[in-house]
Amino acid sequence: MNILVTGGAGFIGSHTLIELYRAGHTAVVVDNLCNSNSESLRRVEGIVGVDGIPFYRTDIRDREGLERVFAMHRLDACIHFAGLKAVGESVERPWEYYENNISGTLVLVDVMRRHGCKNIIFSSSATVYGDPAEIPISERCPKGRCTNPYGWTKSMLEQVLTDIQRADPEWNVVLLRYFNPVGAHPTGRIGENPNGIPNNLMPYITQVAIGKRPELGVFGNDYPTPDGTGVRDYIHVVDLANGHVCALKAIERACGLGIYNLGTGHGYSVLEMVRAFERVNGVKIPYCVKPRRAGDIAACYSDPAKAERELGWKAKFGIDEMVRDSWNWQRLNPDGYN
Ligand code: NAD
Ligand code: UFG
Repeated sequence: MNILVTGGAGFIGSHTLIELYRAGHTAVVVDNLCNSNSESLRRVEGIVGVDGIPFYRTDIRDREGLERVFAMHRLDACIHFAGLKAVGESVERPWEYYENNISGTLVLVDVMRRHGCKNIIFSSSATVYGDPAEIPISERCPKGRCTNPYGWTKSMLEQVLTDIQRADPEWNVVLLRYFNPVGAHPTGRIGENPNGIPNNLMPYITQVAIGKRPELGVFGNDYPTPDGTGVRDYIHVVDLANGHVCALKAIERACGLGIYNLGTGHGYSVLEMVRAFERVNGVKIPYCVKPRRAGDIAACYSDPAKAERELGWKAKFGIDEMVRDSWNWQRLNPDGYN
């Protein structure tokens, strides 16, 4: 299939492009580069051995720009990564998050249907479960109250896309709820490239390892978890990327609406992640315990059985590969793509 990949220059998008090409698909990328660098696309081309993946520096809110892309290419489906994703920033700038993520998706979906392209895979998040009613979290678990505007954009867009599919069964909509993506491509050529001080645990750890930050702050050690620190379901970004290739197969089978968790099913605490990083990479990570971070929950990990049953997808990489590849990327690219 020829796939429109919005946000394809970003962290998860760039890794997904590689797996798409490996599976025999082709792609057209739309990204406004507000949180990425087109160097990632050049590196993807190098890894897959393809010259000139079509790229448009276009905002998904730009209707005319998207119309031009659809006029130039026959597109079978869209994998929709484009969006703002910084939780803390979304609390400070809610309008910008609702406008970018929600208006952008509404424009995108309208242009898609005008061109008869009614297949979409949407990047959702475990954040839609709020403080989960049960752990491990299966897709039967009810959605909860999000703790920030970013999370609400995901929750609301899931509803928008669900309603569109219900009203017009020609649509195939796959909502993928990612748990905590980490790692990088094993070549060390592409990876996560956060601006400024990282919000997320793994890029913070790698920046401590390379000496950019003196120590890791561990946000709370009094949670009701085995060692008191927060537990999450970390998933290697290459596994996550492959989840999208499996979701495309479901779309080819005309799946209608599908909702899937993409996680490993294993929870690791902050201190377990620190110790795994130290053990595998032989680098010390100094840390100090800080107060809990507002909005954090104690534990969150998936029941990924539905994705295995219905999509034939299962995470292959474990914690050792995650910390190895995160460090490999950071070590080889101390300043990311800059
Ligand atoms: P990222 O910031 O690396 O990638 C997002 C891309 O979208 C960037 O390249 C950015 O420039 C682009 N973009 C943003 N707004 C745009 C717009 N209006 N028009 C065109 N391009 C635009 O983030 P990522 O980690 O690769 O995340 C991809 C998707 O997965 C996002 O929707 C994110 O919310 C979702 N997600 C990420 C995580 C995570 O922890 N990384 C977890 C759950 C869900
Ligand atoms: N943590 C620290 N120190 C840090 C950063 C994080 O102790 O410097 C802890 C957090 O308190 C939490 C764990 O590490 O216990 C993971 O935190 P992250 O910020 O890496 O990830 P979150 O689980 O908070 O959120 C991430 C994404 C969200 C997404 C969610 C579920 O940032 O966008 O996973 O997919 F919604």
